[in-house]
Amino acid sequence: MQGGEIDLDTVAAVDPQAVESEVLRVVASAETVADVEAARVEYLGRKSALKLALREVRDRETGMALNALRERVESAIDAREEELGRAELDRRLTEERVDVTMPGSEVRRGHLHLITQIRREVEDIFLGLGYTVIDGREVETTRYNFDALNFPPGHPTRSPQQTLFLDEETVLRTETSPSQIRTMEAQEPPVYIVTLGRVYRRDTPDATHTPTFHQVEGLAVDEGITLGDLLGTLDYLLKALFGAERRTEFRTNHFPFTEPSIEAFVSCHVCDGSGCPVCRHSGLIEVGGSGMVDPSLFEFVGYDPERYTGFAFGWGLERIAVLRHGIPDLRELWRNDPRLLAQF
Ligand code: DAH
Repeated sequence: MQGGEIDLDTVAAVDPQAVESEVLRVVASAETVADVEAARVEYLGRKSALKLALREVRDRETGMALNALRERVESAIDAREEELGRAELDRRLTEERVDVTMPGSEVRRGHLHLITQIRREVEDIFLGLGYTVIDGREVETTRYNFDALNFPPGHPTRSPQQTLFLDEETVLRTETSPSQIRTMEAQEPPVYIVTLGRVYRRDTPDATHTPTFHQVEGLAVDEGITLGDLLGTLDYLLKALFGAERRTEFRTNHFPFTEPSIEAFVSCHVCDGSGCPVCRHSGLIEVGGSGMVDPSLFEFVGYDPERYTGFAFGWGLERIAVLRHGIPDLRELWRNDPRLLAQF
C-alpha cells in the first residue's frame, strides 16, 4: 500500500491471524535490533496495514480485535528486541573485554649513572666504618684550595693554565682536599669523614682526562692514628671496591699536604699482576693519593699537632669505574650514551 491512500478494503484485508503469524515469523527470524526495528515500522508504523485498518474501524468488536492484535504484535516485537539487545550486549562485553592479564607496553626505566652508583657505594663503605659523609663546596678560595694545603706560590697547579679561576682569589676546586681544612676548622677531633664530589681542572678531554671529574676525600684525625691505620683502611676500601682477591700495594709519593705521602696500587684486573699493556707491564694500577696529614695543616686549623695525628686520601671515582669495568675511554662516562650506561 502506498502513502496516504486509504484502501476501503483495508479493514477487511487485515486478517488478524495471518498478520500475527507473519509478524511472529519475521520477528523470530530477525537477527539484529535493527531488523526488529524495521519490522516495527512495517507492522506498527503509521503506514502499516494494521494502523490504517485501525483508523478505518467502525464497529467496536473489530476495533477490540485489532487493538488486541496490535498489543500482541507490539509485545512480540518488544520481547525480541530486548532479547537481541541483550545478546548484542553480551557479545560486545565478551569481545571488547579488557584483558587485565595482558602484558602492558613496556616503560623503559632509567637508573643511576655509574659514577653515582660508585659514589653511593663508597659512602656506604665508610658509613659502615663509622665515618660521616659531609658536603664540600665546588667554588673555593685560593686560601683553602692552595694556601692551607701548602701549595707554594708559583706551584704549577696555581696557574690559570691548569686551574679554572673565577677571579683572582676564587677557583673551581681542583681537588676535594680543601674540605679537609673546612671540616677541621668546623669541629674538634676526633674527625672521621668522607666527602665526595666534583672537581675541575683545565684539561683538554682525552681518553684519560676530563675537565670535570669526581673525587672521594677521606680524613681521619684522632689521638694515636698511625700509617698502619691508613694502609689498613685503604686495603679495606680497595678490596671492597675491586674484590677480596685483589692484591694491594703502597708506595711513597709526594703531596704538599701529607708527610709521608702514599700512592695506592691495586693488582691489574686484566692480567692479575703478571703484566700487560693495561698496567704498562707493571702488574699494578695506580688508584689514588693519600698520606699522613702534614702537621702544618693542624696548625692552620688550630689543632694541637703534638696531640693529634691523622691520615687523608683522595681518589677519583671515574678512575675506580674505569678500573673496575674496563672502560677504555673516560669520556664515555660523560657522553650519556644509553647503550653504554645501561650496561651498569
Ligand atoms: N688531592 C690529591 C689529588 O687530587 C689526592 C690526594 C692525595 C688527596 C693525598 C689526599 C691526600 O687527601 O692525602 O691528586
